[in-house]
Amino acid sequence: MNITQSTEPGNIVGNKVVLRPIKEEDLQIFMTWVNHPEIFHYLNKTMPITFEEELAWYYRSKQNPKDRIDFTILDKETENPIGTLGVHHMDNINGVAYTGTIISTEYQCCGYATEAKMLLLNYVFSHYNVRVIYSYIKGYNEKSIAYATKCGYKEITRFPKHYFRESDGKYHDRVIMVVEKDEWIRDYWTEYTKRYNL
Ligand SMILES: CC(C)(COP(=O)(O)OP(=O)(O)OC[C@H]1O[C@@H](n2cnc3c(N)ncnc32)[C@H](O)[C@@H]1OP(=O)(O)O)[C@@H](O)C(=O)NCCC(=O)NCCS
Repeated sequence: MNITQSTEPGNIVGNKVVLRPIKEEDLQIFMTWVNHPEIFHYLNKTMPITFEEELAWYYRSKQNPKDRIDFTILDKETENPIGTLGVHHMDNINGVAYTGTIISTEYQCCGYATEAKMLLLNYVFSHYNVRVIYSYIKGYNEKSIAYATKCGYKEITRFPKHYFRESDGKYHDRVIMVVEKDEWIRDYWTEYTKRYNL
C-alpha cells in the first residue's frame, strides 16, 4: 500500500479511497450532498447553500490555504467522488485544529469515511504542528459520534441544549470530541495500518 504524502497536499491513496485536493468542478456535487435532507440536518447550517455561496467559500479558502485543507474523497475503484472531508481553523502555534466529513448517502456505512479520516489524521499529524483535533457534533448524530469514536476521538464534554432541531421542536447537545496525536498514533494508527496493511 502506497500512501503518497507531501507538505503541499497531493493525492493520499488508501485501500478503498483516494483523498484528492478539492477542485472548483467538485462544488456542484458538494452542494447536492450538503443540501440533501439526510445530511443537511446534521450540519451546522440553517439554510440550504446556493452555488454562489459555495463558490465564494471555495475562493475564500484558496486565499488562506494555511488555515485549512479540504479533500474530495474518491472511490478508489471507480474514481467517483463520494464525499469530502477536511481540516480547518488550523492553528499551528497552539497545535489545534478541527475536522469535518460528509459522505454521499449511497456510500455511507461502507467504511469509506473511516479510512478517509484515518488517512487525513495521519497526514495532518505528520506534516503540521497540530497535536489536538476537535470535532463538534450534534447530539442526535449518533452515526457521526460512532464514526469519530472509531477513528480515535473521545468525547470530552457537551454543551447542553446547544442546537434547536425544528423537526422535533427540541434542543440538543453539542458533543465535543477530541483526538490527541501521541495517543492516536500509539493506540489507533499503528493498529490500523497493521490490520489493513496500509
Ligand atoms: C458521519 C458520516 C461521515 C459517517 O460515514 P460512514 O460512511 O457512515 O462511516 P463508516 O462506514 O466509515 O462507519 C464508521 C463507523 O460509524 C458507525 N456507523 C456507521 N453507520 C452507522 C449507523 N447506521 N448507525 C450507527 N453507527 C453507524 C459505526 O461505528 C462504523 O463502524 P463499523 O463499520 O465498525 O460498525 C456519514 O454518515 C455522513 O456523511 N453523515 C452526514 C454528514 C455528517 O453528519 N457529518 C458529520 C458532521 S459532525
